[in-house]
Amino acid sequence: MTTNKMTSIWRVRPGSNDPASRAAIAEAAQLLREGGTVAFPTETVYGLGADARRTEAVEQVFAAKGRPSDNPLIVHIADESQLAELVLPYGETEQALMKRFWPGPLTIVLPVRPDAVSPRVTAGLDTVAIRMPQHAVALRLISESGCPVAAPSANRSGRPSPTLAEHVREDLDGLIDGLIDGGPTGVGLESTVVITEGPGVVRILRPGGVTPAMLREVAETVLLDESLAGVGEDGNTTTMNNAKHAVKAGGTTESTNNGQSSKAVNDTANQLQAKAPRSPGMKYAHYAPQGEMVLVSGVASAVREYIRREAESAAERGEVTGVLTYDEHQDEYAADAVISCGRLDQLETAAQGLYAALREFDARGVQRIWAEACPDDGIGLALMNRLAKAAGGRIVVV
Ligand code: TXA
Ligand code: MG
Repeated sequence: MTTNKMTSIWRVRPGSNDPASRAAIAEAAQLLREGGTVAFPTETVYGLGADARRTEAVEQVFAAKGRPSDNPLIVHIADESQLAELVLPYGETEQALMKRFWPGPLTIVLPVRPDAVSPRVTAGLDTVAIRMPQHAVALRLISESGCPVAAPSANRSGRPSPTLAEHVREDLDGLIDGLIDGGPTGVGLESTVVITEGPGVVRILRPGGVTPAMLREVAETVLLDESLAGVGEDGNTTTMNNAKHAVKAGGTTESTNNGQSSKAVNDTANQLQAKAPRSPGMKYAHYAPQGEMVLVSGVASAVREYIRREAESAAERGEVTGVLTYDEHQDEYAADAVISCGRLDQLETAAQGLYAALREFDARGVQRIWAEACPDDGIGLALMNRLAKAAGGRIVVV
């Protein structure tokens, strides 16, 4: 990786209106107008922004991230008045979603107005994903720049998304023009991406901070994209339960005391990958720590028992072991790194802490990680989706 840029870093207190913060945002907005790349905080994760209309600027985003070019970017706006020049007329359901959830962690896929943004942003699709973030710094940066701002998460491709400016620095220092440090982000997971399929019908392409139950306040029918199989909501016929798609430990597997069967586990990974996702980004290995991670789901006591046993035998083989758990269970393991992402009885905190926890395993050189599953309702749906991705589809049901 070559580093050839001087990355300007500004510290800005969100919500503050002091002269230093105002000057920092003005400088960053100027960089965007000039075709530069600037990382900035949002309420979900840090984004890496560029003027969505300028191909050279957008190409710098792909280059800095090492992102595959067929993965389109979300365009961020600060005001609905920006929409007219970006998208073609849309329906009442989209309007209702915007009214209810913007600004906020909901991205809506809309018909793109021809030539409104660089083809690099849409990856050649006839749609564009639009979002209005709920973060004072992001909103001010976007409106001062006067640009529609294309911004993927500000991490190297495949790495966990950044929830702190420090994470952005780790991945992108010297590769981007600027970074606004606005402290920790809020939700901690990327926005929910949706597309409508007729009046009152919304399909979730990527689960996030806006949950299916919240979407149902606005849309009669909320569907989960098939590519999300393996992490579903109970009781929704279009979704599937983990158990149906995951590997049953001790079933077809050869042994459980020598690590779970790699064959069965790989079959699951292949199954998950075989489904062509409508949101192109969902097909890539994402959010992954460097160590090999397995997501363990099932009866709580059996999950803990399984993880303890597996971690113990891996430790005997001389591997550096890690357990990703919750505050309530942190004392129950004896691995080299036992890291809680947050509270099981308050999964919002686990969502906030997930990516920092994954990065911490890397910092400690962990080679094998077992992650405890969580209930997949509410924000748990998004959390389980990211956990399954971080595990590369390696899911064990005990
Ligand atoms: O919370 C977020 O959404 C963050 C912050 C920075 O706003 N951004 C983010 O961007 O997560 P990124 O690039 O990491 O993820 C964009 C997702 C990908 O899964 C991509 O495939 C999908 O949105 N996407 C973008 N344009 C699309 C389109 N036209 N149709 C379907 N999916 C699209
Ligand atoms: Mg991303």
